Amino acid sequence: MAHKEVTKIGVLTSGGDAPGMNAAIRAVVRTGIYHGLEVFGITRGYSGLIDDDITKMESRSVANIIQRGGTILKTARCKEFFDHSGRQKAYENLCKRGINGLVVIGGDGSFKGALKFSQEFDIPCIGLPGTIDKDIAGTDFTIGFDTAVNTAVEAIDKIRDTADAHDRLFIIEVMGRDAGYIALHSGIATGAEHILIPERKTDIENVVQSLLEKEKRRKLVNMIVVAEGDNFGGAEDVAKHIKEKLPAADIRVCILGHIQRGGSPSCIDRLIASRMGYHAVESLMLGRFNVMVGVLNNKMNYTPLEKAVKSKQRISDEWMRIVKILAS
Ligand code: ADP
Ligand code: F6P
Repeated sequence: MAHKEVTKIGVLTSGGDAPGMNAAIRAVVRTGIYHGLEVFGITRGYSGLIDDDITKMESRSVANIIQRGGTILKTARCKEFFDHSGRQKAYENLCKRGINGLVVIGGDGSFKGALKFSQEFDIPCIGLPGTIDKDIAGTDFTIGFDTAVNTAVEAIDKIRDTADAHDRLFIIEVMGRDAGYIALHSGIATGAEHILIPERKTDIENVVQSLLEKEKRRKLVNMIVVAEGDNFGGAEDVAKHIKEKLPAADIRVCILGHIQRGGSPSCIDRLIASRMGYHAVESLMLGRFNVMVGVLNNKMNYTPLEKAVKSKQRISDEWMRIVKILAS
């Protein structure tokens, strides 16, 4: 059956910003224009769609942005889009301009919105995984993760210098409300003694025992990397508990926070964003609708949005074993 022809497309960024979103916008705009489509930029995610904050983009609109963090389209979390009435307004604004395809760059929340929208209205949507959390299944990469994790690694390396100079225990909190990927990767890459993540039940007494044992053999420099959403609590909670059990330990806490979300995207993030943006437009043109574009084993992979919103990227036991063995 012939698919509906897509002639005018919109692109928006939604949810938490991630380095590389600009590179993805650039790829969508330029690929669209290359194929003779009209491309519209929607400001502030779904809020701009509802408020009719929509502007036609030209090739030059996306000049000099590939290297910039944040998103030139701005991003937002939009309550109104949870309601049918909000989505109806969004639909009417798209119809007014004849926009008949939408590229949504964001995390799984943004995909839930795109899925509902595409089910209720006749607008095919393509999702591009843009999140530093890397918690989306169906892709080996999410736009922004590589930059964020390298920011964390750089910071933790610096902290280790001080930990080493003062024989201290540092507890470092990295981002990840529901996901431990930044903690896992940055922790392994910096040789952290313990890594605490939401995907595994934290056995805090085991951490205390291991620190006690290290104290006995005069190993006083220790780094614990904890994801903000760890089930025991954040870095402050972990520090408080350890201090009660090991009063002699010289403990410091460092919360890296939003420095992980900004900054110039790494080469990898620029490349995957460019590749995914290009394939988002090709998908709309080929009638491959309502999918998330991902890269698996260096091949493009298209996950139906319905599936993308249900499955999370899992952390393998192999990684957890590597952490345990290498940190002894
Ligand atoms: P992320 O995309 O980074 O996971 P959020 O979870 O904050 O970020 O979602 C971004 C936006 O997507 C929300 O503010 C809302 O506008 C929209 N959204 C999320 N979940 C839904 C849903 N179930 N129905 C409709 N819209 C949703
Ligand atoms: O982008 C995802 C994320 O970084 C989470 O790990 C974190 O909890 C959340 O965003 C915080 O977002 P904000 O500060 O925008 O509420």
